[in-house]
Amino acid sequence: MGKPLDPQHVAIIMDGNGRWAERRGLPRGFGHRAGVEALRRIARHSAALGIRYLTVYAFSTENWKRPRGEVNLLIGLLREYFQKTIAELHEMRVRVRVLGEMAPFPSDVRRLAESARELTGLNDGLRLQIALNYGGRAEILRAAQNLAGQALRGAIDPAEIDEDCLARHLDTAGLPDPEVIIRTSGESRLSNFLLWQAAYAEFVVVEECWPDFDEKSLENALAEYRRRERRFGAVRRKK
Ligand code: IPE
Ligand code: IPE
Ligand code: MG
Repeated sequence: MGKPLDPQHVAIIMDGNGRWAERRGLPRGFGHRAGVEALRRIARHSAALGIRYLTVYAFSTENWKRPRGEVNLLIGLLREYFQKTIAELHEMRVRVRVLGEMAPFPSDVRRLAESARELTGLNDGLRLQIALNYGGRAEILRAAQNLAGQALRGAIDPAEIDEDCLARHLDTAGLPDPEVIIRTSGESRLSNFLLWQAAYAEFVVVEECWPDFDEKSLENALAEYRRRERRFGAVRRKK
């Protein structure tokens, strides 16, 4: 309790690509492309700062509502990201995996995500989670269905399902909860990101759009986190 140390787990809602492009009179796709560059930069800098876990929200369960052209462009960028960036991440000893349900993505993209996980699975550096077709509600629902199935088969006793047990059935099984969630582009909402895991995360909103979020922006956001006092429901300790 009290003043936070450096966070182990940083989560980022990478928002504002579209507005970044629109403000420059460019199609939204340019913003998404610049957003991929920002992610490369921030993954590199997170590793350099010694952050253990970085989780980024790249595509939500709700983002399928966007125009087909934009969805296809995002899928294309994702394919390109896996093809071009995995070697670089592997070299930095980053361990990559996806959170969310990959089934609706094209099979080659699913294979790329899977081979990225396999290639980097033994790396001991930064652990990078990319949330794709991810929604906090869908994730909790999948865990509930899984546990209900186990209970029905008699494999577990419903009375023994506690918070740790539920957490082990989420996509983030094995990861500590994020201490801080950063959202870019000035929006202050979770948009269905890490609903369970965010229970006591510090929420840091930054005004910059995601493509403008750079090394300095990350350091400023971490400094903001360090100024917070985390009480976890208890009362402040007397000095
Ligand atoms: C974030 O930027 C990227 C995704 C959600 C895929 P947006 O595309 O949401 O950009 P804005 O919020 O419309 O500016
Ligand atoms: C949240 O951003 C999802 C991602 C960053 C991937 P959105 O732009 O989709 O969220 P809303 O619609 O503004 O809440
Ligand atoms: Mg947005």
